[in-house]
Amino acid sequence: MKGAASLFRSTVGKKAIMAVTGLLLFGFVFVHMAGNLKVYQGAEKLNAYGEFLREVGAPILPHGQLLWIARLVLLGAVGLHLWAATTLTLQSWAARPERYATKRAVQATYASRTMRWGGVIVALFVLYHLADLTLGWTNSSFQPGKPYENLVASFSNPLVAGLYIAANLVLGLHLFHGLWSLFQSLGWNHPKFNPWRRGFATAFAGIVTLGNVSFPVSVLMGWVS
Ligand code: HEM
Repeated sequence: MKGAASLFRSTVGKKAIMAVTGLLLFGFVFVHMAGNLKVYQGAEKLNAYGEFLREVGAPILPHGQLLWIARLVLLGAVGLHLWAATTLTLQSWAARPERYATKRAVQATYASRTMRWGGVIVALFVLYHLADLTLGWTNSSFQPGKPYENLVASFSNPLVAGLYIAANLVLGLHLFHGLWSLFQSLGWNHPKFNPWRRGFATAFAGIVTLGNVSFPVSVLMGWVS
C-alpha cells in the first residue's frame, strides 16, 4: 500500500497516470466525434442518438444512470490528468529555476510547452462547450434534448464556429503529442517502433480533428442547417 502511494507521487507514477487517463480521454473524444457524425444523417438521427445515450443501460439501471457513471469516470480522469500535469510542471520549474540564456528550444521542450498551453486551452474550451451545448447558458435558442438544433444555432454564429475550429486545432496538436509521448511514458519505446508510433499518433489525432472541425465548417457553409 505504501509502495503504491509512493509510486503515485513519483515522477514515473505521475507520467503513467497522465498516459492512462490520457488514453481514456482520447477514447472519449474519438467516440464523441464518431457519434457526432450522425449530424450528417439529419436531426432525427442525432437527436435519437442523444436520447439513446441517456437510455443506455436500462432497464438494468435506471434511466440516465450509466451516463452519470460515464460522466463521473470522465471527470475523475480529467481531475487526475490535470493534477499530474500541474505537479509535474511545478516539479520541473523547481528543478530549473533559471530560464535558459538562449531560447533555442530542443524538440522535447517544444513539445512539452505546447502540451502545457494546449492543455489549458482545451480545458477552457470544454468548460465553454458544456455551457454552450449541454447547459445552454451561452445559447439563447437552446432546447433541452435537441442537440442537432442547438449545434446548428451555435455554429450559425461565425464567432462561435471560429472558436470551435481554433480550439479543435489546438486539441489536435495536444492529441498528437499526447499519443506520441504516451508510449514513452508506458515504456513502449524502441527505435524500430518509432515510425509506427508517429503514424498512429498522426492518423488518430488527424481523424478526430478533421471530424470535429467539419461540424462548424458544415454549418457555416450551409451544408448542415
Ligand atoms: C465540433 C466538435 C464538437 C461537437 C459538435 C460537439 C457536440 C456536443 C453536443 C451536441 C453535446 C451535448 C449532447 C447532449 O446533451 O445530448 C456535447 C456534450 C459534450 N461534449 Fe462535445 N462536441 C464537440 C467537441 C468536443 C470536444 C473536443 C470535447 C472534449 C475535449 C467534448 C466534450 C464534451 C463533453 C464532456 C460533453 C458532455 C457530455 C455529457 O455529460 O453528457 N466535445 N458535445
